[in-house]
Amino acid sequence: MDLDQVSFDRLRSGGLDYRRVDASDEAALDDMTRAIARGFIEEDPSEETVIAARPGQAGRRLVGVFDPASPQSGLPVATVGSWIAPVTVPGGELPMWAVSEVTVAGTHRRRGIARAMLEGELRAAASAGVPIAGLTASEATIYGRYGFGPATWHTRWSVDTRRAAWAGVEPEGAVQYLDRDAAALALDELHERTRASRVGEIPGWPQRWQQISGAKPGEPHATSVRGVRYVDAGGVLRGAMAYRIVESDADWARSRLEIRHLIGETPEARAALWRFALQHDLVGTVTAELRPVDEPLPWLLADARAATQTIGDHGWLRILDLPAVFETRSFAAPLDVVLRVADPLGFADGVWRVEASADGAGRAAAVPRTGAEPEADIELGVAELSSLYLGGVSARSLAEAGKLRGDASAIARLDAALRIAGEPFLSIWY
Ligand SMILES: CC(C)(COP(=O)(O)OP(=O)(O)OC[C@H]1O[C@@H](n2cnc3c(N)ncnc32)[C@H](O)[C@@H]1OP(=O)(O)O)[C@@H](O)C(=O)NCCC(=O)NCCS
Repeated sequence: MDLDQVSFDRLRSGGLDYRRVDASDEAALDDMTRAIARGFIEEDPSEETVIAARPGQAGRRLVGVFDPASPQSGLPVATVGSWIAPVTVPGGELPMWAVSEVTVAGTHRRRGIARAMLEGELRAAASAGVPIAGLTASEATIYGRYGFGPATWHTRWSVDTRRAAWAGVEPEGAVQYLDRDAAALALDELHERTRASRVGEIPGWPQRWQQISGAKPGEPHATSVRGVRYVDAGGVLRGAMAYRIVESDADWARSRLEIRHLIGETPEARAALWRFALQHDLVGTVTAELRPVDEPLPWLLADARAATQTIGDHGWLRILDLPAVFETRSFAAPLDVVLRVADPLGFADGVWRVEASADGAGRAAAVPRTGAEPEADIELGVAELSSLYLGGVSARSLAEAGKLRGDASAIARLDAALRIAGEPFLSIWY
């Protein structure tokens, strides 16, 4: 997991130092936290916040870019943090190079620093033998150029509670308040219990759950965050939710309940927590984001139009080792297709035969060159292939958008083979 020499040299030629930040060096780590906060246009973090951020950074591969000419030369002008996380894929999981904390200071933007850092991360991942990289993006325009494509989608819900009479199951268990630390633990436990059954999920980490549940020191609005859990009729923990009520200036009795995180191990638990939110007194609107696009919320309401859904991209993936990723995932139908994949960074570039047998097992291998360029059924870029990989994007849609070219029957066969039950989903930011 050493630093990438190509990026090191490129940044050095611009007078910048590209180096690992030692997570055991508290002063360096705290400067990293301050630089990340500045990059994400947050307030300058308090001492308490900086200290609270330390454990979350432990175990990450932190890299900073430093400008020796800066009056604050200890504060990085660019940051990136990464770690290897298992991502659930159809039929299994893959080690994924999770890329996070990508920032470049306003004084140093648009001179190729992010590009050097991102390419450096991808080369470091590939040389460590990690077959895929992933991230969540602040803007959808940043990462396609490095071969990342959106692979999971999420829904933002807004529900008008006056119209949202309950038409779902009547839960037999109980909703109970938790203090903030206990809510963080419940979210963590339920996420760990369920993530292997949802394609696209990765593990959370304690500070992420503490931030969501308001237990993290320095978290904005922490004291207004409340936590509840759902226990089933047998008293077993099945669901948890962190939420906040944002008072409405116009009408206090019609305030907004913002669901920060809702997780249920069973459909009953999820329904019970939604019902709790929708029937909360003094609430006129319930909002939630990072919800699965296949959540059955409208079906739980007497008036389905009480709920409006906005869909956005969330989890982005970038294939690095094409044979490894197709060997790991299972396929819904037999397949034999030749793909020409364009990857300007080289990792997945080439012509590949992807095959799957009736039992769902798949494999991919480079088509050998025998003089002329081999024929391909489908031509696409690595970002588009990465979007298709989890089964949450259809090749036909990409073809209609001109992002993929190929024979219509090969495209239909590829879609049939990559299809999964349910939609891929990632429930956290990272
Ligand atoms: C996004 C960010 C890291 C880019 O850093 P940067 O060093 O200015 O980027 P680079 O100079 O390396 O730009 C590389 C390419 O990305 C493009 N680009 C950079 N930021 C972009 C943005 N926000 N939207 C669209 N394109 C962007 C550049 O135009 C350039 O394009 P090119 O390859 O066609 O020439 C920086 O703007 C930033 O810190 N933003 C705030 C924090 C943030 O959103 N981070 C991302 C977290 S997911």
